[in-house]
Formats: sequence, C-alpha cells, structure tokens
Amino acid sequence: TTVAALALSAGAALAEGETIGFSQIGSESGWRAAETTLTRSQAEERGYQLQFSDAQQRQENQIAAIRSFVAQGVDAILLAPVVATGWDSVLQEAAEAEIPVVLLDRQVDSADDLYLTAVGSDLVHEGEVAGQWLVDEVAGEPCRIVELQGTTGSSPAIDRKTGFENAIAGHDNLEIVRSQTADFTRARGKEVMESFLQAEGGGADICALYAHNDDMAVGAIQAIKEAGLAPGTDILVVSIDAVPDIFQAIAAGEANATVELTPNMAGPAFDALEAYWADGTMPEKFIQTESKLYTAADDPQGEYDRRKDLGY
Ligand code: AHR
Repeated sequence: TTVAALALSAGAALAEGETIGFSQIGSESGWRAAETTLTRSQAEERGYQLQFSDAQQRQENQIAAIRSFVAQGVDAILLAPVVATGWDSVLQEAAEAEIPVVLLDRQVDSADDLYLTAVGSDLVHEGEVAGQWLVDEVAGEPCRIVELQGTTGSSPAIDRKTGFENAIAGHDNLEIVRSQTADFTRARGKEVMESFLQAEGGGADICALYAHNDDMAVGAIQAIKEAGLAPGTDILVVSIDAVPDIFQAIAAGEANATVELTPNMAGPAFDALEAYWADGTMPEKFIQTESKLYTAADDPQGEYDRRKDLGY
C-alpha cells in the first residue's frame, strides 16, 4: 500500500458522514434544477448529510443560510452566489470558523483567500463562444441582435455580456440593438422578447437573439412564434447552458446553438473537499469546467436523450 493510497482511504473515511451546507440561489432555470439534483445525488453517493437552503433569488437569504451553517458547525459550505458583490463579511465569518467554502458556478468579487476554491466555467469565454458562432454564421451579412441578460449583478450576466461583445467587436455588420434583463427565467424571457418584437416594429428586422441562458431563449422562441416569425430561421437563436429543452428546440430547427455549462459542479467540489480534509491539500483557486458549443450538426436528439438519462 502506497502512502498516497493510505491518504486516500483516510480521506474517504473522514469524508463519510460529513455535513455540507448548500446555499442554492433558487430554481430559476432548468440548469439550476439540474445542478440541485446532481448535488443531492453526489452528496448521497458519498455519504454526506446535505443541508439544503433555497434562497429564492435573495442574497440576504443566502447570507442568513451561511450564518446558520456556521452556527451549526457544518464541515463545509457550498455557495452558488446570486450576485457578485457583498460577500466579504459572511465569508470572513466562515473563514474564522475554519469552515471551507466552495463557490459553485458563479463568481464573487471578494478576495480569494476567503474561500477554498470556485468550481465553474470561464463565463467570459462562454459569451465569446456564442458571439463567435454568430459572427461565423452571418458571414459578413448585416445582423441586428437582441440580447436577453441574466440576473442583474450576477457574474454570468456581467461576463456573458462582456464575452459576446468581445467576439462581435470589430465586426461592424453585427450590432446589439436591444438588451435587457429577463432574470434567467423562461417567463421573463418570453415577456421581454415580446417587448423587443413590439419595439422593433414586429421583429422582421431582428436577425438574431442572444440569450444568457437556454430558459430565456425557450421563452423567447414562444414569443417569436406567436409574433408569426420563425425562430431559428427568421431570427437566429444562440444561448448558453445546453439543457434538454434547448436540444429539443435545436432538433426542431427553432434554435441554432448553445454553449454547454455542466450542472455537475458538486463532483469537482466534493473531490477538492475530500483532498483537503484528507491531508490539507489546497486545490487551485479556480476549477474550470468545459464550454462546448452544440449546433444542429451535433445530434441534438441524442444530446437530449443523454441528458434525460442523467436525470436533468
Ligand atoms: O450561474 C449559471 C446560470 O444560472 C445558468 O446559466 C442559468 O441557467 C442559471 O440560472
């Protein structure tokens, strides 16, 4: 038996029965629901007690949940932070109690010594991948774009906007003509797209929709259809997440491209925690997940089925 193997088995024994507090944002999207499901199943498989707290989109609920986890003396805290700012004090409290905090899927503006690690994608890169897809797709033709932003102040809304703008910069044929938040939800995506279509004289001159997540795109697709236009052809649709419903839309020709964000953030988070508990191994400050582009050429029906089988 090697020293490494001994350390591993000690870590596994230590990890059994650990209590993890999870402050989740809410259930605004299909992606969020999948992340919650996978976190619960990962915790169960590893024999952890998961204390789940749904913040219903409110930072103050997340702060209260973290304080309660600290008071209970949990072994670690997972935090999916709804917005990027305002975390310093509560993260400091967790650090003083020596409870490791792992950020999931969104970033914070706080100093990185206030948390153990962050698991997530490069959110600027996701926007760049989406924007580059559109640059290539329109191939120099003029294109008026409408943009549905995620939750105001959240790192994915800020960074996905920046990334997309980076990609289209210098391509004068592409222009964002309307941009507004729709809170990452399907219902708001539909409403805001309706207002875009109305403001744009029915929408005949809109060439593309960029949505910061698939759910808003799915809502917007409905609005486009109700306005008598064909999503996917009259108005190109590109978004982010790669949830099952967008693959259905891509298979039906009603959406064109999506950038995958894995909902399995808990797997890498728990691996990092287990190594830390075992022998104090400090993970990298950022554990990056992949951002793969999918289009109609990538077997959308198969991708839909595969995700359904995984329990999305
Ligand atoms: O933070 C990740 C984003 O949050 C997902 O892209 C979106 O669907 C979710 O609500």
